[in-house]
Order: sequence, then C-alpha cells, then structure tokens
Amino acid sequence: MSESLFERIGGQAAIEAAVDIFYGKVMADDTISKFFAGVDMNKQRGKQKIFLAFAFGGPVKYDGKDMRQAHKHLVEQGLNDSHFDAVAGHLQATLEELNVPADLIGERSWPSRARPVTTS
Ligand code: HEM
Repeated sequence: MSESLFERIGGQAAIEAAVDIFYGKVMADDTISKFFAGVDMNKQRGKQKIFLAFAFGGPVKYDGKDMRQAHKHLVEQGLNDSHFDAVAGHLQATLEELNVPADLIGERSWPSRARPVTTS
C-alpha cells in the first residue's frame, strides 16, 4: 500500500509545526481573528492537530464536531466564503513554508472538501 499523505508530509511532527504556524497567521489576520475571540487557543490547536492528522490519513481518529456543526454559530455571525478563503490561504502558505510539495498540498484540495464550513 502506498504511504498516506500524512506520512509523506512528515508525520505528526509536521502536523504539529503546521498547526502552530497556521494559527499564528490566522490570529495576525484582522479579517478573521475576531471569530476566535474567547476561544481557548491551546484547546483549538490540539483539536486542529487531531483533525488535520486524521484528514491527511494519519493513524488517529477525529471524534470532534463535524465541520458544519463546529462553525454554525460563526456563520450566524457572518462567516462567509471570503473568510474561508483567507483561512484556506493561511493553511496553504503554512504548508508551503514547511516545504510540503505543491502537488501534495493540491492533493487534499482543501477548499472544495471543507466548503461545508460556510455552506448552510
Ligand atoms: C479549512 C477549513 C477549516 C477547518 C478544517 C476547520 C477545522 C476546525 C476544527 C477541527 C474545529 C474544532 C471543532 C470541535 O470543537 O470539535 C474548529 C473550530 C473552530 N473554527 Fe474552524 N475550520 C476551518 C475553517 C474555519 C474558518 C474559515 C473560521 C473562521 C474564520 C474558523 C473558525 C473556527 C472557530 C472560531 C472554532 C472554535 C469554535 C468554538 O470552540 O467555539 N474555522 N475548526
């Protein structure tokens, strides 16, 4: 069997580094940081590490909220595709900074798969 995307990008260490850098970018972006007001970012980073490891095919099971449920209250606060695109852009830039090859980043095709975040 071929290696999972999780293994090819560098395993758990790469996910941990990516999530820390990613939320640094998100929180520095005034157009989206307001959605994280009051959120415990330590917990959030922990959940995101599990979610991304799972989404990339790693040996973990994500049992948190589904994406639509997790972001429902944010959509009610005005979260839309422009915010989503900003977040997806920060994730892509993070993976590029960590030298994840472009074809591997494209393989996961974030925007289309995670669109439920902003679609009711
Ligand atoms: C690639 C798209 C995205 C993914 C994969 C993602 C992933 C996640 C995950 C795994 C959680 C934790 C769910 C749980 O509590 O079990 C979460 C929560 C959250 N997400 Fe996202 N998210 C995405 C897009 C966004 C966008 C666009 C925003 C806002 C700009 C956002 C803001 C939040 C906030 C504020 C929470 C915490 C909610 C709370 O605890 O009250 N997310 N997200």
